[in-house]
Amino acid sequence: MIIRPAKRIRGRLEMPGDKSISHRAAMIAALARSTSRITNFSTSEDCAATLHCLSALGVPIDRDGKDILVTGVGLRGFRAPAGPLDCANSGTTMRLLAGLLTFQNFTSTLTGDSSLRSRPMQRIIDPLRMMGAEIESKDGRAPLAIHGRNFVQPIEYELPVASAQTKSCILFAGLGGSGRTTVIEHVPTRDHTERMLRWFGLTVESGDARRDGEVFVAISPVAGLSARDVQIPGDVSSAAYFAAAAALLEDSELEIANVGLNPSRTLFLSYLKLLGFNLNTDLSLEVSNEPAGTVRVNGLPATKRKNSIQSQTIEGPMVAGLIDELPLLAVVGSQMDGGLEIRDARELRVKESDRIAATAAGLTAMGARVEEFEDGLRVSGPTALRGASIESRGDHRIAMAFTIAGLIARGETEIKDAGCVAVSFPDFFELIDAVTVR
Ligand code: S3P
Repeated sequence: MIIRPAKRIRGRLEMPGDKSISHRAAMIAALARSTSRITNFSTSEDCAATLHCLSALGVPIDRDGKDILVTGVGLRGFRAPAGPLDCANSGTTMRLLAGLLTFQNFTSTLTGDSSLRSRPMQRIIDPLRMMGAEIESKDGRAPLAIHGRNFVQPIEYELPVASAQTKSCILFAGLGGSGRTTVIEHVPTRDHTERMLRWFGLTVESGDARRDGEVFVAISPVAGLSARDVQIPGDVSSAAYFAAAAALLEDSELEIANVGLNPSRTLFLSYLKLLGFNLNTDLSLEVSNEPAGTVRVNGLPATKRKNSIQSQTIEGPMVAGLIDELPLLAVVGSQMDGGLEIRDARELRVKESDRIAATAAGLTAMGARVEEFEDGLRVSGPTALRGASIESRGDHRIAMAFTIAGLIARGETEIKDAGCVAVSFPDFFELIDAVTVR
């Protein structure tokens, strides 16, 4: 894909349904006893992988225009699949489904593409084994063979790495437990699983844990779940690319309506505001237990931005709240006086690609000065970026972050393997075209 520089961004948009919330809605609806209609279900390949796996587990799924209808088979009603369950590129599909498969009375195998097969799964294998699950894996990677049994042991588990996927996997397994399962987080992560379980009528306890800053989430076993219609808000992580482009390009005016504004996902937008960009969120809706609303962005010249941040270092607990937006934030950082430093973000090395290396290489190719650390990077700024050829490494978030870099750069930018954007956002380039003034 060739990206040419943009003058400004203008328009009113809606984003496709949130990917994280769509995975959870489909999986929880699959456990219910009758049919749930899920409106504005994510168009991502990742969520298609979840639907494909659920179908292979005997869950009837129909499409009705933009909606999907999931006919739940009951808590322990999955059917043994005919072959391995292909989670494609989707970590969420693999890690969350693994939780549900521990209490189904058959053996199943979860696998995926080469990126997913290289990602760490020990983080779910350890707690699931503590719950009595029998799991086979080589070196803590997929394929994972899960020998399910009807009941698992309840546990109390402190997450060693901040991860909503690991938390959700354990909570899902806890649904088939013989008592209360508790997850303790040192750093709170996105809470879509908790919210969606509550939407389907379950009690999920949560609150402050023993030590300062820690939180707990607990689930007790249930006899069953009732079906419930779900509306999915627009994906705020997808909106982030458009918001960043509009913020960086002077004279832009952008409105993104019906977007999810769950506080565990909006740190990127809040941070842009603190950096002095003209961005407002209007939290006016609640859809299926998720806050939502409108985001408006006006592009200001750099001289009119009022930066209210002391230190432009992203570190510690902030990282979890920005995890999917960090490559994009590094692009924004290249335009800031004083640049930006990201630390404590080792997790980025085990995402769909090594996102620290991919971001550092891309920004360097575009003329920025970048220092790479084992746990992050520092980009100097402000830098006039110049078009370059960018290796997306098959990683959707790298392809999209460097598309935004291309819009603000001089000259043409080539995004290699740009088709990977479909992993989260198939219409990304069409929508970029629709709002870009050249
Ligand atoms: C996700 C959680 C995050 C995020 C991923 C989606 C989820 O991963 O990076 O894109 O839907 O729970 P981790 O929980 O592994 O950090």
